[in-house]
Amino acid sequence: MNSKMEIKRIGILTGGGDCPGLNAVIRAVVKTAIFQYGLEVIGFLEGYLGMIKNMTRRLEPSDASGILHQGGTILGTSNRDNPFRFPVMVRGKKIFRDVSDQAIRNLKRNKVDALIAVGGDGSLTIGYELYQKGVPIVGIPKTIDNDLWGTDVTFGFNTALHTAMQAIDKIQTTAASHHRVMVVEVMGRYAGWIALEAGLAAGGDVILIPEIPYDIDRVCEVVKERFRYGKRSSIVVVAEGAVPKKGEAVVQKLVEDSTDPVRLGGVGYKVGSDIEKRTGLETRVTVLGHTQRGGSPIAYDRILATRYGAKAVDLVMQRKFGRMICLRGLKIEDISLKSVQGDQRKVFPNGDLVKTARSIGVAFAD
Ligand code: F6P
Repeated sequence: MNSKMEIKRIGILTGGGDCPGLNAVIRAVVKTAIFQYGLEVIGFLEGYLGMIKNMTRRLEPSDASGILHQGGTILGTSNRDNPFRFPVMVRGKKIFRDVSDQAIRNLKRNKVDALIAVGGDGSLTIGYELYQKGVPIVGIPKTIDNDLWGTDVTFGFNTALHTAMQAIDKIQTTAASHHRVMVVEVMGRYAGWIALEAGLAAGGDVILIPEIPYDIDRVCEVVKERFRYGKRSSIVVVAEGAVPKKGEAVVQKLVEDSTDPVRLGGVGYKVGSDIEKRTGLETRVTVLGHTQRGGSPIAYDRILATRYGAKAVDLVMQRKFGRMICLRGLKIEDISLKSVQGDQRKVFPNGDLVKTARSIGVAFAD
């Protein structure tokens, strides 16, 4: 896999949690590679597991046809299978091994000259480590959380946001009919983008995000005050990573083999029960969960994923490896995979969006 050699065949894999737009990106890679450059394309199945276990499928234009609007990924994905820390059973005991050489051998066995890895921070960190071992790689950022450093937007985020907004719209009508407080927990890991933007788009009254620790007394004051001056309901949008001023994020479970073992979740129930106990107002909790990851991508994500996919193949043909495709303003650019390691893109507590929300009366309960 010498970067000067002719590129005839590329590989693609989708790693980490799925998100809407993965099929759009696969489609763009396959079509650009075959129609523009006459390449062959091999898909590795189930994320990096496909590379480790040599599970592949040849991708032809017909495979890329009719999938633009489909959620999920035709290649499958996994947020567990890290070639640098792969679980194996030895004498009944699970241990972790570095099987990256085996994974790289499988690239060679499949005559793959360059690899396009579509993933979030975990998968792109693995991509960078593979690059350091000599694999010619280009990364494409995806995640509903929008928390990847180095790009203004990841594809998948805007669809998740749209799904969350529509769910909150529906919750608004039932909330008002019953004079209730409705708590809606959304995903996003340690970043509050989905909560903030869905809350803004759907008219949330209180928005709790990890970047602005909340005071539960303040949340209760806000909802009580709203009922006092005649509001029929209150909507509290809570990011799964929201943290109280004195306390920690709520961890739902640990997934041992995962690149990031912590699974957040449950803070919505905590906030909901605190509100009901302290204010006496009837409160219900809805956790949107994986509905935010599923379904058909909205137009924005289809287009962004298509632009990312086509650009990734261009980069491969320019032998610009160790790069991640990104969006800067309105332009598709690229940035070194090295520079995006270790940082997360979070909401600025004093940024424009938070200021706008505050100016229309949204409470962050800080
Ligand atoms: O990173 C995407 C995401 O959906 C997060 O918002 C969420 O915390 C996590 O993945 C859930 O992971 P899993 O699908 O393993 O439950």
